[in-house]
Amino acid sequence: MKKDLIDITDLTTEEIDGLITVAEDIIANPDKYREICKYKKIATLFYEPSTRTRFSFESAMLDLGGSVIGFSSPTDCSVAKGESVADTARTTACFADIIAMRHFKDGSAFVAASNVDIPVINAGDGGHNHPTQTLTDLLTIHKEKGTFENLTVGLCGDLKYGRTVHSLIAAMARYKGIRFILISPEELKIPEAVKTEVLEANSIPYEELTSLEEAMPKLDVLYMTRIQRERFSDPSVYDKLLGIYILDNKKLESAKKDMCILHPLPRVNEIDVEVDDDPRAAYFRQVRYGKFIRMALIMKLLENAPNAEGPYIEGAEEFPPDVKKCKNPRCITSIEQGIKQQFIKTDSGYRCIYCDTKA
Ligand code: CP
Repeated sequence: MKKDLIDITDLTTEEIDGLITVAEDIIANPDKYREICKYKKIATLFYEPSTRTRFSFESAMLDLGGSVIGFSSPTDCSVAKGESVADTARTTACFADIIAMRHFKDGSAFVAASNVDIPVINAGDGGHNHPTQTLTDLLTIHKEKGTFENLTVGLCGDLKYGRTVHSLIAAMARYKGIRFILISPEELKIPEAVKTEVLEANSIPYEELTSLEEAMPKLDVLYMTRIQRERFSDPSVYDKLLGIYILDNKKLESAKKDMCILHPLPRVNEIDVEVDDDPRAAYFRQVRYGKFIRMALIMKLLENAPNAEGPYIEGAEEFPPDVKKCKNPRCITSIEQGIKQQFIKTDSGYRCIYCDTKA
């Protein structure tokens, strides 16, 4: 059966552990993997800018012996003429064996995956999910700390719109002895749903702080994030928050000697360049690990392809009582023609199947 990766929770803990094991073997024995994907093609469909994610997918496929097609901007292809996500995906599936797609709308990768019989990897859908960044973060933590258990993980910055933060919490909450310290200004606090449905539902200890200095001595991992200009509708709020957390050598004086510092990158100013020479700064090693985990993922998904079924949400309803359309203006349903508004009933009410927003 075809497998896509839309959300990190599409992978079981065993599957994540398996990908980490394969990625570590690729690092140790790259020659074993040089021809695994000979004659296979990946299509990288990037509607939003990217450096790391696109390069690492393309580099991953090339290092597996395959090849690459795609676009790095929607202005470079027929999207500029108004082609829908569904039609772009269907067209791409005529030429490629697997798709990696980044799009500015929540739920867009799900729409692509629903319309093709080849695996689709979500390379970032708006402020919703970025599961391969999470896999990259997990491999980095495993390489740096040797374990996922009994770690205190500090997440700092934009915890509201930061898709990498939400996915990392969902993934790490599965391991024993994990504790989170959530460091953000009031305006960018972690969404209530992440607290109640992931942290509290799994009895994961966490505290919310506004001070990075207060959190620092307790941390085994510090995950810094960028305040994302592109997610703010009011630029004055962005201007007010920019620069609120800047990690520098002074702040690191109270950190553990073996703490590791991660950042999905790109950074703006939240990590001073003076920190780059500190051995605890793992964020450029993290970029490198991104290629190896994506090699492992491409191999895993191609093992299962092809199949004529897209992702399927059991129990999805087209028009549940009193629900007409998704309320999230960033949802793919707000721009894509011809897709059904569908909702799934959960303990806390109906949710959009594309972007998870409550109805
Ligand atoms: N971390 C990340 O997604 O970087 P890019 O936007 O450069 O792909």
